[in-house]
Amino acid sequence: KILILDFGSQYTQLIARGVRELNIYCEIVPCLKPVEITPDIKGIILSGSPYSVNEAHAPKPDIAVLAKEVPVLGVCYGAQLIAQQNGGVVAKSNSREFGRAHLHFKDKGVLFNTVSDETQVWMSHSDSVKELPESFTLLATTASIPVAAYKANNYPNPVYGIQFHPEVTHSTDGRQILKNFVVDVCGCGQSFTPAHFVEESIAAIKEKVGNEKVVMALSGGVDSTVAATLIHRAIGDRLYCIFVDNGLLRKGEFEQVMEGYKHLGLNVKGVDAKQRFYDELAGVSDPEGKRKIIGKLFIDIFQEEAIELKDVKFLGQGTIYPDVIESVSVNGPSVTIKSHHNVGGLPEKMNMQLVEPLRFLFKDEVRRAGKELHLDDIFLKRHPFPGPGLAIRILGAITPEKVAMLQDADHIYIQALRDSENYDKVWQAGTILLPVQSVGVMGDERTYEFTVALRAVTSVDGMTADWAHLPYEFLAKVSNDIINHVRGINRVVYDISSKPPATIEWE
Ligand code: XMP
Repeated sequence: KILILDFGSQYTQLIARGVRELNIYCEIVPCLKPVEITPDIKGIILSGSPYSVNEAHAPKPDIAVLAKEVPVLGVCYGAQLIAQQNGGVVAKSNSREFGRAHLHFKDKGVLFNTVSDETQVWMSHSDSVKELPESFTLLATTASIPVAAYKANNYPNPVYGIQFHPEVTHSTDGRQILKNFVVDVCGCGQSFTPAHFVEESIAAIKEKVGNEKVVMALSGGVDSTVAATLIHRAIGDRLYCIFVDNGLLRKGEFEQVMEGYKHLGLNVKGVDAKQRFYDELAGVSDPEGKRKIIGKLFIDIFQEEAIELKDVKFLGQGTIYPDVIESVSVNGPSVTIKSHHNVGGLPEKMNMQLVEPLRFLFKDEVRRAGKELHLDDIFLKRHPFPGPGLAIRILGAITPEKVAMLQDADHIYIQALRDSENYDKVWQAGTILLPVQSVGVMGDERTYEFTVALRAVTSVDGMTADWAHLPYEFLAKVSNDIINHVRGINRVVYDISSKPPATIEWE
């Protein structure tokens, strides 16, 4: 495997995904944690960073310690750090360099031997290497900087530095350059395929769980479904799944998803807790208040069910890699761990051991594993849906009547997206019930009813998003259908805000 030392760059995860796309396993580790070079580690990539190597408090692990054991590739900050530690000079560039640049090769070496002279690379830096240590070989320059790539010759293993970012798609041969490093320089095999992952994780679950039982909450989403399917392949019906109907799901979704689970052969108990959720949510309009109530009640219900099963030692979870990466904070070299919101608080409370087969996978890899397991598209291509469900799409206090109204409007919208083949083109879509009433006219009657907002966004990971440019005719039809068929709604609007500065959900 490859280790990626994270110095806090916004692109670190992209390096990891670039390596994974080559079917090579890699892990991200915080730069300040001491690294133990075990025999399975074949190479190390140093990420970029918001720091300057000339800042007093910049993180500066000794690269010689790493390069003594394995090859190293420094990207941006990583490249500057290696140069500085060998007596090179790093300073602010005269002009900060952002965006595309062209390499002028001096020596292609192994890193660039398959890369064309016309290749475009992506820069994003204010510092750069001004003077290279004497023993280093200059590999490439650009029109604005004297050192765009180099090879260091004074370590026992090959060490390269590149000023540009091979991990972003705008670097046209970025994947090829990464491949040249991890395959040709480090000698990694490209065997981390979905089939391999499925086989290995089933074996690992068998080994870990032995003859014990596992209990797990399902949500209908792709992560928990893939995790449950893997565990089920390993231990069969000693996996007990629980799917709670909180009354805040989409119309008919509970039944549809239960049917899908049965089809997969999972041992699932459906729990109808609708009324308990409605009772506790009555009169609550603060969004965070709603989230807290829903989270806590969910844990209570899950615990009640799990206790009935008796002697369960393991808790299955669909946690994925972005939830557990220890990221380097940009506000200081302190190491923070992102908290994940899967089923927060459960493991501590229940004193169980965790089984998290997807803990090291990115979302797209979870989908690929799901495909390998022959999961249906209703799971694999499903849009993300927030844990608190429609509760955070009804602005203000929640009533069962409002839930039913929103479910009907949402159903018309989502079905129309599917029928018009727009569903797979958007990343997430839903309807929001606004707490305003307005005047309308239907037939000869004056109406005074609610407004529904339609939301659809394109995105890669939900961190940033743009509103989807759905066709006018499509929006016209959905608006018409909702107003004609859903009692209580007389107005439909389309949300044309991007994130940032708005968010995807309204609460
Ligand atoms: P925002 O609204 O922050 O949403 O742009 C980003 C993504 O996160 C989902 N989301 C949630 N998911 N519990 C969840 O499990 C929550 O409380 C929650 N709030 C937002 C949202 O649907 C979108 O996919």
